[in-house]
Amino acid sequence: MKSIKDINVKNKNVLVRVDYNVPIKDGKVESDFRIRASLPTLEYLREHGAKRIILVSHLGRPEGRDKSLSLKPVADVLATMLPKVHFVGDVSGPDVEQAAKTMKSGEILLLENLRFYAGEEKNSDDFIEEIIDSTGADIYVQDGFAVIHRAHASTDAVKNHLPVYAGLLLEKEVSNLEAVLKNPKKPVLLIIGGAKVEDKQPLIDKFLPKVDHIVVGGKIAADGYESKDEKIYIAEDFDKDAEGNKLDVGPIATSKIAGYVTDAETIIWNGLLGYAEDPAYATASTITAEMIGEKPEGARTIICGGDTTGFVEHLMMDHQNLHYSLVSTGGGAALEFLLGKELPGLEAILS
Ligand code: 3PG
Repeated sequence: MKSIKDINVKNKNVLVRVDYNVPIKDGKVESDFRIRASLPTLEYLREHGAKRIILVSHLGRPEGRDKSLSLKPVADVLATMLPKVHFVGDVSGPDVEQAAKTMKSGEILLLENLRFYAGEEKNSDDFIEEIIDSTGADIYVQDGFAVIHRAHASTDAVKNHLPVYAGLLLEKEVSNLEAVLKNPKKPVLLIIGGAKVEDKQPLIDKFLPKVDHIVVGGKIAADGYESKDEKIYIAEDFDKDAEGNKLDVGPIATSKIAGYVTDAETIIWNGLLGYAEDPAYATASTITAEMIGEKPEGARTIICGGDTTGFVEHLMMDHQNLHYSLVSTGGGAALEFLLGKELPGLEAILS
């Protein structure tokens, strides 16, 4: 994969695709996880003397311009992490040209939500060309791992107009996910939870030949998931509410999972083990997350899926000792990568 580390970015105008598709409520960013994840690339570009660092992203799924999905609040958060961050409420045209021209080396310019414009999802060459012209970009850096499964202008068509390089976040995601697909250190454990069996079954099928154990918990297990395969352990007991709803994996299953986690050298965890939004039913997920996060450095530990990463991120704030090889920023993208699907945003870097 062509990486920003392989080229000289000094005095170059760099257009960076980040994924700042973050939860926003009443104009406030509720989780800065994806914003923080983009910092290593931005700091690298600053330290290596890039002239202009201009960021593009989408936010949500707007139909046309929608004030509630502006990236302005994201720029405000980014401004608390980096010295000088500008924002322009457009992606091309005179305002963008002016802001790009006047920005100083080391400063950051974030443009407006790409999905306010039909050209993004239409994978339009003209659309991305306008952005490139307005920003004066010489190089394109793809660091929006979470969106590489989409064939959009900023992930796909862009390759027809600029050389595309992988950013540091994208490299970290890809190298960790690739490592669990190719020659993972054994024993390998896949932990599956969550609610939608139709989303998780392909992952179970794909990994069954590769892993030593698969654990199935969460609502999937509570709903009666069945398998006769001896590698698959399905949670056997549950914590219930007063109505008898099975809302968390119980103590017997939790201690079984703990045993698998202790033995494993490679762990992939996708999907919470219980209804962890309610702390009363977060016990199995908490114990599992802590045990994985306390594994020695040599183990490869991957956390993926939006709910699971959100949960683990939260836990890490209170427990600084927890460490994971990768807490993936990509929900759908990570899943598609693990399933071996072709990802347009990645193809654009490889081409
Ligand atoms: C995500 O949150 O999974 C990515 O940002 C992709 O968003 P999308 O599913 O709206 O394309």
